[in-house]
Amino acid sequence: MSNPIYLALDLPRLDAAVALAQKVRGHVGGLKLGLEFFCAHGHHGVHEVAKVGLPIFLDLKLHDIPNTVAAAMQSIHVLQPAIVTIHAAGGRAMMEDAKAAAGESCKVVAVTVLTSLDDGDLAAVGVGSNAHDQALRLADLAQEAGLDGIVCSGHEVGAIHKRWKNGFFVVPGLRPADAALGDQKRAVTPRAARDGGASVLVIGRPISRAEDPVAAARAIEATL
Ligand code: C5P
Repeated sequence: MSNPIYLALDLPRLDAAVALAQKVRGHVGGLKLGLEFFCAHGHHGVHEVAKVGLPIFLDLKLHDIPNTVAAAMQSIHVLQPAIVTIHAAGGRAMMEDAKAAAGESCKVVAVTVLTSLDDGDLAAVGVGSNAHDQALRLADLAQEAGLDGIVCSGHEVGAIHKRWKNGFFVVPGLRPADAALGDQKRAVTPRAARDGGASVLVIGRPISRAEDPVAAARAIEATL
């Protein structure tokens, strides 16, 4: 089994991000770079991190008209990402076009409902159903559009895996049993998420802010 841990490199400085990635490279399966990193460091930053030699997950959460998202996917093709995120709320055509533009070796994964939105926030933007039902609806739409999978929480992954047997599920919000929760209120352990069917475990601060990131990554790996 290849290592499912993708380290979230949420560090403002490029040199610090590359140094951390180098340090833990033997104990994680890939590296996640977010919108903040991409806006700050662009293609150059991704190339520098890619030199570490691990698969790259570009968590850009693309959401625009189909033509624009497809063009953006083509523009990041040169970076050879293993995984890219888009918003399922962009609709079926946007998802289909994004997948078609991504190329064979890139998994395109949809964000359903952001965990920062509650039922009241959804009502305010005109969504009639609650966050849970909306997430399931968008997961089904992503599957129909031919995407590889979705981003979901460790609480949901088991139920979604039952509806989408061969889906590729990216799970953030994880905390080892003994770790500080930080701002992750409903954390799940990496092992529980894996048992629920997670394909990729996104882990940031429990590794990046540990006194010994290598020991932290190894300890998590040992629980899987
Ligand atoms: O440091 P931590 O392990 O909380 O990092 C989790 C990563 O996953 C961050 O990059 C964060 O933006 C992302 N994420 C999350 N919760 C979500 C969606 C994404 O923590 N619901």
